[in-house]
Amino acid sequence: MANKVESWGTRVGLILAMAGNAVGLGNFLRFPVQAVQNGGGAFMIPYLVSFLLMGIPLLFIEWSTGRYGGKFGNHSTPFILDTMARGRAWKYVGVFGIFTNIAVVSYYCYIESWTMSYVFHSLKGTFVGLSQGEVAAFFNNYVDIAHSTTGIPFEAVVFYVIVLLLNTYVLSKGIKGVEKVAKIGMPLLILFGVILAVKGLTLGTSGASAMFPNANAWDGLNFLWTPQFDSLTNPKVWLAAAGQIFFTLSVGMGTIHCYAAYVRSKDDIALNAVSAGFMNEFVEVVLGSLIVIPIAAGYLGLDWVKENAGFGMAFQTMPYLFQQWGTVLAAVAGVLWFGLLFFAGITSSLAMGTPWVSFMKDEFNWSNAKGAWSFGLITLLVGLPTVFFYQQGVFDEYDYWGGTVSLVIFALFETILFSWIFGINKGWKEINYGADIKVPLIYKFIIKYITPLMLLFVFVGATFTPLGNDWTGNITSLFTGNGWSLDNASIIKQLTHAGLNEQLAAATDPQIIDKLNEKMFFSNLARIILLSLFIFIGLMVYVAYLKRKKEGRVTL
Ligand code: ALA
Repeated sequence: MANKVESWGTRVGLILAMAGNAVGLGNFLRFPVQAVQNGGGAFMIPYLVSFLLMGIPLLFIEWSTGRYGGKFGNHSTPFILDTMARGRAWKYVGVFGIFTNIAVVSYYCYIESWTMSYVFHSLKGTFVGLSQGEVAAFFNNYVDIAHSTTGIPFEAVVFYVIVLLLNTYVLSKGIKGVEKVAKIGMPLLILFGVILAVKGLTLGTSGASAMFPNANAWDGLNFLWTPQFDSLTNPKVWLAAAGQIFFTLSVGMGTIHCYAAYVRSKDDIALNAVSAGFMNEFVEVVLGSLIVIPIAAGYLGLDWVKENAGFGMAFQTMPYLFQQWGTVLAAVAGVLWFGLLFFAGITSSLAMGTPWVSFMKDEFNWSNAKGAWSFGLITLLVGLPTVFFYQQGVFDEYDYWGGTVSLVIFALFETILFSWIFGINKGWKEINYGADIKVPLIYKFIIKYITPLMLLFVFVGATFTPLGNDWTGNITSLFTGNGWSLDNASIIKQLTHAGLNEQLAAATDPQIIDKLNEKMFFSNLARIILLSLFIFIGLMVYVAYLKRKKEGRVTL
């Protein structure tokens, strides 16, 4: 058993912390972009179906798994899974539940640090009088560490370190510290979000200008909210929708297990899981869709938004758009918007810190403070390359392997473990134990059959994505004996750098060749760091296992 039993102070605190874990930059930055890039209304049906058939089941699985592990004093996935399966290998599957968090938090904190810096610049008036191009250039200059002229030397690094220190400090206060931040951050975030959403809803055509005479905020909203049923047969849209559900709910990461492990063993998890999940969906689907897209469409037109949708859009355009409201309101809106993103970010990054801290506490009797500082140090080491070599693609590489592929792999494993090895009957009992709602029985069937099948589909679909995302063409080709051509976006082709190699083979300009070689180098560097991190955590789990064995705490 752990040396000291910690648990959440209040139910509201727990739900806000869990919702804060889920509500993050993904809700406000990633969701609108994914929706726009996948056909607006066409995206919403696969998205909602993925929420019901994968998101909710995974929430039930992870909450109940976590609380179950907590009963045995385990608060991180390696030994939570070990308790459930009593098979030696499962604790190494659980390594994903610590690895993913550190991999993601190391670049996630970088975006979090941009939001903090942009609050500062909004107040300082940096964006006053800048054109759209100049605002975009400010961002590019900011992330170009070596040549940055933003005023503070190495500003991006300075803010990154401040954000890490802040996270470390809160984590050092234990689960109660996290709860406090969630209780302050979440209501503020929702308040800021509602104010900006009202603006998005009421902007209409008032932002049209000589340059963008057709700009209309309603176009953005209609684009998102006019359902299109044709997407139901397009696997590309399904993959994107499923990926967004994973990222936004933070399932497949190990954070939910960790938070749920601090729930008292007799307390409800079913209603809590649904409450936190739906709160996240409200923030994502309602607030997330009412800010960036309509405001950008309101000033720049929907066509511009469709062409330029990307993660950086919020940083490259919003400060300029706010300027259209006058200097004072622009500063207020900048603080609201980037403040909202900051709160969304920190409540998620704290969640990503807890699995490591809990692991060190459980296994090596470390204090919260020692666990937190070691987390800060590891994250700094893993994260600094994303800061220094952001433009060389380290950030994207982390996001792909740590923030995308890992989640699906872990979710697939944990679902099989829960439904088929631990057993759905025992699992169902765990979900319903102490429950304050009656979970519909259909979910027993969904968790056993539908969720694993959908996860398999997502994983296989991403691993073998066909050329040009043309599923119909490739399936026909396969059945007529002409084989299956992989797209460069497939996991297999990504592993072998197929896209980069093709570009290198075709390039003749020495400058371009240099750039591509540089990209290859940094991509490999990122992979080596991630792999080393995984091995390091795997070794720590092995050492913990030996320690448990010596103390007579293992049954195998
Ligand atoms: N769930 C978190 C987000 O949406 C990671 O950003």
